[in-house]
Amino acid sequence: MAISQDSSKASILSKLLSPLRKKGSSSELELLDAMDSGQPIGDKDWQKSGKEHSWLHFTRHSPFNSSDMRIIVRGEGHYLYDSKGNRLIDALSGLYTCNAGHARQELADAAQKQMMELDFMPLWSFNHPRAIELTEKLLSIGPAGMTRIFFTTGGTEGVETAWKLAKQYYKLMGKPMKHKVISRMTSYHGTSHGALSITGLPNFKQVFEPLVPSAFRVPSNNYYRAPEQFKSEEEFGIWCANRLEEAILFEGPDTVAAFFIEPIQNAGGCFTAPPSYYKRVREICTKYDVVLVADETITGYGRSGEWFGSIRYDIQPDMMITAKAITSGAQPLGALFLKEKYFEPFSQGMTTFSHGYTFAGHPVACAVALANLQIFEREGLVDNVRTNSPVFRKTLEKLYDLPIVGDVRGDGYFFAIELVKNQKTKQQLTREESEKLLRGFLNNALLDAGLYCRADDRGDSVVQLAPPLTAGPKEFDEIEAILRKVLTEAWKKLNS
Ligand SMILES: Cc1ncc(COP(=O)(O)O)c(C=O)c1O
Repeated sequence: MAISQDSSKASILSKLLSPLRKKGSSSELELLDAMDSGQPIGDKDWQKSGKEHSWLHFTRHSPFNSSDMRIIVRGEGHYLYDSKGNRLIDALSGLYTCNAGHARQELADAAQKQMMELDFMPLWSFNHPRAIELTEKLLSIGPAGMTRIFFTTGGTEGVETAWKLAKQYYKLMGKPMKHKVISRMTSYHGTSHGALSITGLPNFKQVFEPLVPSAFRVPSNNYYRAPEQFKSEEEFGIWCANRLEEAILFEGPDTVAAFFIEPIQNAGGCFTAPPSYYKRVREICTKYDVVLVADETITGYGRSGEWFGSIRYDIQPDMMITAKAITSGAQPLGALFLKEKYFEPFSQGMTTFSHGYTFAGHPVACAVALANLQIFEREGLVDNVRTNSPVFRKTLEKLYDLPIVGDVRGDGYFFAIELVKNQKTKQQLTREESEKLLRGFLNNALLDAGLYCRADDRGDSVVQLAPPLTAGPKEFDEIEAILRKVLTEAWKKLNS
């Protein structure tokens, strides 16, 4: 499918890019020439330029030597459209972001209005109306006890900010040794040096080491793989929480600043935890004066079936990181929720939190977030998740009749299907098998069959699903039908 570019727009763009053209390689010249002359530009041109000059995130580029990139050109409702004219059902909400679905007119209108009113102002010493209004709105839907919002542009910055703030807070409180952090194994908390240190994925960290010292790990709540001695999830939950106490005591309570958890852990495949776990974690953090940080980069804004996982599971965090779906992905924005006690030492005298980001709390992003939350309320999106989550689970559980499906787990609109070699014994795929199956088959086969989701083996091999919160039984059936077809094929590949 050739997508033509409006010629006047192409010419403006070409003029803007003309400095690049002077130093550009031949392929840049070809694309720019085509744009300049108003020729139709489409997949072939984008493929050539993309393969020669783009660097995609977390992406192995070698396959592009022999096959095309997936270039997504349009999103509408629950669907994405690629540059070859294929339609994909978006069962990942972009990247856990587009919770209100794609192409919402109100978000575009809010952005345009805000751009003409105040296009930019940083939150460095100044404030602006949309940041103030959004702060009020966020605190009204957030967990009890939160009174301050520190804006960021994404999840990594939220994690980084929470750790730095915890360190400075304890220095101001006369506990300068409290600086260490604890997080859970296999967890993902972002890419900057600090956030990557908190991340519990050794393979992701090795090439960037040494990282920030003082970050330690405790087990995550993978009940599917819990040792048999645990007779219930509650019992396993208590055991996991007690590992936190053990780690704090081992490191020394006067050196530990914070514990980071996701309400539903993404990496590893949607690990939920029972109430006993969160209750015990809260007790331990209170007992040893450790900041309990909920990383809701994914679980925030309705994903769990409540506004926040912290509310759904009564986590009672001291700090809460949110990002992604705050704008349904239409603008980059993050918001760190804080209890007043962390602000108090900064409220007097010359004390400053010397930390911030140029684009954090961008007026356009804040305006879009406000419009997005209005959509959530008007359309009852959080209620929709609560009502339909059991239907989603049941639909996915139908796949248990496929021998490759070991476990279906998660909550809200956030589920993982763990792939196994033997349902009865729960035998895992080896690293080599997972590599062959996920990268050699599943990733492309799912997309070719019209499903955008995530096949992931940062932990055990899983397929993850997180559709927009506007989805319902019709979309679940479509997702299940494609998974059934592709996973049936995957089983054959695994055993061939
Ligand atoms: C739990 C968690 N924390 C932090 C991050 C990093 O967020 P970002 O990519 O917006 O920096 C992610 C990203 O997916 C995440 O899932």
